[in-house]
Amino acid sequence: MNAPGKFLDAGAEAPAPAMAAPLPHESARAHVAGSATYIDDIPEIKGTLHAAPILSTVAHGRLRGVDTRAAEAMPGVRGVLLARDLPADPLLATFAHDEPIFALDTVEHIGQVVGLVLADTTMQARRAARAVKLDIEELAPILTAREAVAAQSFVLPTVTVRRGEPERALAAAQHTLSGELEVGGQEHFYLEGQVAYAMPLEQNQLRVHSSTQHPAEAQHWIAHALGWPSSSVVVECRRMGGGFGGKETQSGHMAVWASLAAVKFGRAVKLHLDRDDDFLVTGKRHPFSYDYTVGFDDSGLVTGLKLTMAANCGFSADLSGPVCDRAVFHADNAYFLSDVEIVSHRCKTNVQSQTAFRGFGGPQGMIVTEAILSDIARHLGLDPLDVRKRNLYGTTQRNVTHYRMRVEDNILHPLIAQLEASSDYRARRGEIARWNAKSPVIKRGLALTPVKFGISFTATFFNQAGALVHVYTDGSVQVNHGGTEMGQGLNTKVAQIVADELGVPFSRVRVTAADTGKVPNASATAASSGTDLNGRAAQFAARRVRERLAQFVADKQGCRPEQVVFANGHARAPDAHMAWEQLVDDAFKSRIQLWSDGFYKTPKIHYDKATLTGRPFFYFAYGAACTEVAIDTLTGESRVLKVDILHDVGRSINPAIDLGQIEGGFVQGMGWLTTEQLVWTGKGALATHAPSTYKIPTAGDVPEHFRIALWPEANPEDNVGGSKAVGEPPFMLAISVWEALRDAAASARGGAVRMDAPATAESVLKSLA
Ligand code: MTE
Ligand code: HPA
Ligand code: MOS
Repeated sequence: MNAPGKFLDAGAEAPAPAMAAPLPHESARAHVAGSATYIDDIPEIKGTLHAAPILSTVAHGRLRGVDTRAAEAMPGVRGVLLARDLPADPLLATFAHDEPIFALDTVEHIGQVVGLVLADTTMQARRAARAVKLDIEELAPILTAREAVAAQSFVLPTVTVRRGEPERALAAAQHTLSGELEVGGQEHFYLEGQVAYAMPLEQNQLRVHSSTQHPAEAQHWIAHALGWPSSSVVVECRRMGGGFGGKETQSGHMAVWASLAAVKFGRAVKLHLDRDDDFLVTGKRHPFSYDYTVGFDDSGLVTGLKLTMAANCGFSADLSGPVCDRAVFHADNAYFLSDVEIVSHRCKTNVQSQTAFRGFGGPQGMIVTEAILSDIARHLGLDPLDVRKRNLYGTTQRNVTHYRMRVEDNILHPLIAQLEASSDYRARRGEIARWNAKSPVIKRGLALTPVKFGISFTATFFNQAGALVHVYTDGSVQVNHGGTEMGQGLNTKVAQIVADELGVPFSRVRVTAADTGKVPNASATAASSGTDLNGRAAQFAARRVRERLAQFVADKQGCRPEQVVFANGHARAPDAHMAWEQLVDDAFKSRIQLWSDGFYKTPKIHYDKATLTGRPFFYFAYGAACTEVAIDTLTGESRVLKVDILHDVGRSINPAIDLGQIEGGFVQGMGWLTTEQLVWTGKGALATHAPSTYKIPTAGDVPEHFRIALWPEANPEDNVGGSKAVGEPPFMLAISVWEALRDAAASARGGAVRMDAPATAESVLKSLA
């Protein structure tokens, strides 16, 4: 196995080529020194007003009146902004066009924004926002997906994907099992909360600093809300302090609200949500409810499956369509389902509008199938790993997904075998059984689960990107691309790619803030495809500059352009050799264009939206994790003891960053399935809206034994540098934690285990009842 290399010191000169080197994040030093600029660090323009949202206190009701008199009389308050002040469409320009900018005549969840208070300071605005009185006639709320299905309350129509004859397969099956499962949502808990800073410019233009994964969408929403052309609005994002999907669309609300206020008051306006308000206002991972019946034979082979997944989407569609589609696309995880029906309900409820979160429905699709496979194993008295292996996609047959895509790149057979050996799975299985037999209170559990995650945006048109590469006359290089930096290291990887394309040292390349005025119409940085898309676009842009320089050298030297090689800060022709800086200066003086654009679109992908069939993904990223846990059967408390991971990032562009993504993704997934619990009261109030009650993993929760290795093969598809996307897939490796907890519970009680997620102490105890 390939252990990720030693990290390079942030001060060290990078090796050449830069790709494949474990370089530190381009902002690593600035992050820890506190000199990296986040939006709240931008010096404020004189006269800046601060905004705070007025929130609905009722989950569902008719909004009869808003009394702002007391709030407007409070110190520092400069005014309010309500639905009546909206200059154009009162609805946001979302895909479904179903979400008001400010609540109109109804409120649909506790925390829905009714308007803003503007004041000289943030605290003045926040205090005054609480003094606004809302007159609301309460209506009955719908809070859970199951209630919504009963009431036929949906944000989007139900989607069904079918193959074969599941009813007949179930009727003919040697065994069947039926069950239900509840899996909770997840708050993003980005360290930098949602924030936007809108600055009016001359002649009805705006510059908006937004902490967003999707500057182009924010621009589009702002322009639509103002009734302006997009060309009058520039949205910029240097970096986010984390996004995790929570700033794919949700950040757009802040940007729109701040922009509307900036235009109404003719002042710069900053809107930074208080953490509790961030919990109450913005969407989270979708909670899912499942019902299933599975048929299987004596060997554990699944012969038929009927699965209903009901997603709690909250009050509007937001990204629920593509999230639920991805859940459908990942309900197979790594397994061939011959006769299957998957029904996906997109439920409308009176809670926050749930949104993208790392994995984007993939985790919710996979977890139920993993649960079903280990249920089958326990039912038959087999090892869950053997049942998993029995059902894996084949390489030459049994290799077409339920959505009719051929799985051509499956490496899970050797990958699982390798992890099974390196983690000593079989021996530990026996050891744990012996240990459990002697331990009445503490029980240990083990699970090895795979991941197969489809890479590409499911909406095909999103799979495009642009970039600009500027070479200045001193030889330094500036790159701009449509992607955004949220800590994942996108800008570092793009700089590595461009450095190698031009044959210059990594330190010569600087990547600048995402800016809608530079690369327009960019897709969200999401679906893990930031490097695949923007890295390739930047590579193409750099290539065009290099090709012009090669032609310039060839013309002077009387050779062919292909004979000119760029490496180590030099260009070499058969009979000449010159420093990059000299060449660039000469070329400039000969009027050679030293900058270029680049554009990339992902090849091969297509699918039919109506039937969800085709090839939605360019390739799959694979991995597997083996996790050992212990539970206390008296209290339900648990600990993750050991984790071994073997993960496929293709040929790594940066093993240090990829390792960080695998660790971070895994631990975030562990949080989702163990401690992070969203509790809504019977009235629809989110009770866990602060770190005091909502528990994300801490450094102390990271297992002491946490070994990660990278699969050594390159991506067989022609992806940038032979790499594979890494941002989301490792998140789902954490399903092994939850499966290990269920394994431990099975040792304690025998028989079937129902353990709803998150597996808090309460949920573990319940599973033992
Ligand atoms: N890593 C950090 N540090 N911070 C983040 O917000 N977001 C994740 C992942 N890794 C995130 C992260 C999510 S949800 C996605 S889709 C990808 O990064 C997006 O970036 P990429 O496409 O460049 O990998
Ligand atoms: N993943 C992440 N974000 C998205 C997607 C997707 O597949 N589609 C639209 N936004
Ligand atoms: Mo990630 S959920 O695709 O932003």
